[in-house]
Amino acid sequence: MSDNKTISFSVLSGKGGVGKSNLALNLCCALHQMGHSVLLMDCDMGLANMDVLLGIAPQSDIQDILINNRDPSSVLVPIDPAGKTGFDLLPANSGMAEFVDLDTGARALLRDRLNPLAARYDFLCLDIGAGISSTALGFGAMTSLRLVVVTPEPTSLTDSYAMIKVMMTRHSVQDFFILVNQVESDAEAKQTYNRLAGVCQRFLNFAPAYLGQVRFDRTLVEAVRKQIPLMQLAPRSPASVDCANLASLLRRQREMMLKQGHGNLPLTPRKLS
Ligand SMILES: Nc1ncnc2c1ncn2[C@@H]1O[C@H](COP(=O)(O)OP(=O)(O)O)[C@@H](O)[C@H]1O
Ligand SMILES: [Mg+2]
Repeated sequence: MSDNKTISFSVLSGKGGVGKSNLALNLCCALHQMGHSVLLMDCDMGLANMDVLLGIAPQSDIQDILINNRDPSSVLVPIDPAGKTGFDLLPANSGMAEFVDLDTGARALLRDRLNPLAARYDFLCLDIGAGISSTALGFGAMTSLRLVVVTPEPTSLTDSYAMIKVMMTRHSVQDFFILVNQVESDAEAKQTYNRLAGVCQRFLNFAPAYLGQVRFDRTLVEAVRKQIPLMQLAPRSPASVDCANLASLLRRQREMMLKQGHGNLPLTPRKLS
C-alpha cells in the first residue's frame, strides 16, 4: 500500500469552449464543500483563465516556478478561505507563447516541484487547455484520472475522439471518463456518450467509461459574467446539482483507489511510447 492520499484528475477536451474550466472550478467547489482539501491548478498555459472566472488578479503564477524558481507554495492563492467554496488555486499566466508547448524536461521539472505540495491535498485538479499540445496531453497523462468533457455537438465528438487517439498513441493511455456537458436531457447525454464510445471501440479497440452529465444552465453563463463560481452563486441550479453529483462519484472513486493503493505520487511520470 502507498501512503499517497491524493487523487489527481485532469479535465481535458478536444475542442475549446466546451466547459472544462467551469466544470473543473465547480467540481473543486463541490469537493471542498464535502469536506475535502482541494488544489486546483490552471494548466491552460497559453490561455489561462481560472483567475478571470474567479475575479482575482494573482501576483505570481505557475510560470514563475519554472522561470524564477519560485517555491510552488508561495504561488498558491487561497480562494474564499472563510467561505463555502474555499480551496487553493495555482494560477497560470495567459498569453505566454513559450509555455504553450512545454517540452518533456520542463513538464518533468514542474511535476517534481509540484508533487510535494499536491501531496498535502485529497484532490489535485488540473484544468487543461483544449487540443493536443504536448503540454495538454503530457499533463493529462500524469494524473490518476482523466475526465474528457464533450458536448452533444458533432465537432466536440470528433475532436474528443482525436484527442483520445493521440493520447493513446503518444502516451499509451487508455483510461478515460467521459463527462457530457451542456445537455438538455439524460437521453441526450447517453446518446452522446454512446456515439463517442462506439467510435473508440471500433477504431481504437477500447471504450472510455461514462462518468456523468451536466445540464445546460443559463445561470452558469451568468456566473461567468459575474466572475463567481456557479456553486457559490446558485448552489441549487441544475448544473450545480449535477456538479455535486459528479463530485460524489469522484469521492467514491478516490476511496476505491486508495483501498487499492493506487500509486506513490499525485502526478506520475509516464513514458512516451
Ligand atoms: N453547463 C453549461 N450550461 C450553460 N453554458 C455553459 C455550460 N458549460 C459551459 N458553458 C458556456 O461555455 C463557456 C465556455 O466554458 P469554459 O469552461 O471556459 O470552456 P473551456 O474551458 O472548455 O474552454 C462558458 O463561458 C459558458 O458560457
Ligand atoms: Mg478553459
